[in-house]
Amino acid sequence: MLAAPLQPVFAVLQQQIPPLSRPESVTHAEVILAGEQPVVVLRHIAALSAAEQQSFVAAWPQARWFGEPEAGVFISWDGNSAPLSYQLEPQQITLQFAADDFIQVNAKVNQLMVSQAVSWLAPTAADTILDLYAGMGNFSLALARQAKLVHGVEGLSKMVQQAADNAALNKLDNVKFWQADLHLPWGKTAWNQPIYQKVLLDPARAGAEGAVKQLLALKPAQILYVSCNPATFARDAKAMLAAGYQLQKLAGVDMFPHTAHLELMALFSRQ
Ligand SMILES: C[S@@+](CC[C@H](N)C(=O)[O-])C[C@H]1O[C@@H](n2cnc3c(N)ncnc32)[C@H](O)[C@@H]1O
Repeated sequence: MLAAPLQPVFAVLQQQIPPLSRPESVTHAEVILAGEQPVVVLRHIAALSAAEQQSFVAAWPQARWFGEPEAGVFISWDGNSAPLSYQLEPQQITLQFAADDFIQVNAKVNQLMVSQAVSWLAPTAADTILDLYAGMGNFSLALARQAKLVHGVEGLSKMVQQAADNAALNKLDNVKFWQADLHLPWGKTAWNQPIYQKVLLDPARAGAEGAVKQLLALKPAQILYVSCNPATFARDAKAMLAAGYQLQKLAGVDMFPHTAHLELMALFSRQ
């Protein structure tokens, strides 16, 4: 079921879109739950008048409203410039994000996954941990609460900056973030070093084919693979098994209820 704070969205859009001067110009609606705060992003291919924008806001003032007149351009309609955020309560982490940043779609399940990652990897003050596909720090910051040092690597520069800002917001100075396309050769970098006891990777649906070989060269004792695509996970897991890792724990995670999609968490350790 859609999270309770988001449920008014259907009635509001059904009421607000038909009377627009060009209702067909609204092509896409995205809803985001930022903590308990509903957020709506409306893509529109023709201008909406200020009065039309304010009508959406007035119809559901509890929500934050953004127009997206072109891809990646977000215009606040409600005059609220506070950043969007959510909390990882057990880890006492606040994560800020922009409306177009990746966040895990299911907040409750995300919390369970982060807590399970912390429990399975059990970071200690002796551990240096690598978090690949780090986004804006969802796993990295929680791991950094207990580890000696965490290095996070992410492809989008804007999210790398957001991750670094989130580390500062949470007063964590033992976590550093870098930008890299992990599917290209990693080259010599500060983070591509055999210094990690533990690695977490959380790639997109395409998996991590280009990254796994390079990751295996770092020879970490444990690898926690978080996957949203069992097919690419199975392909990548083969490479880890062939390199001498064994599957220690596997959990299916119902991140996307009522869909065929399945999230997985798999912990491998080196023999
Ligand atoms: C499933 S999301 C996980 C993000 C983060 N771990 C989280 O829990 O919010 C995958 C992340 O991988 C990044 N990504 C996708 N392809 C990449 C690549 N080739 N190199 C580096 N990062 C990539 C995306 O920008 C996205 O932030």
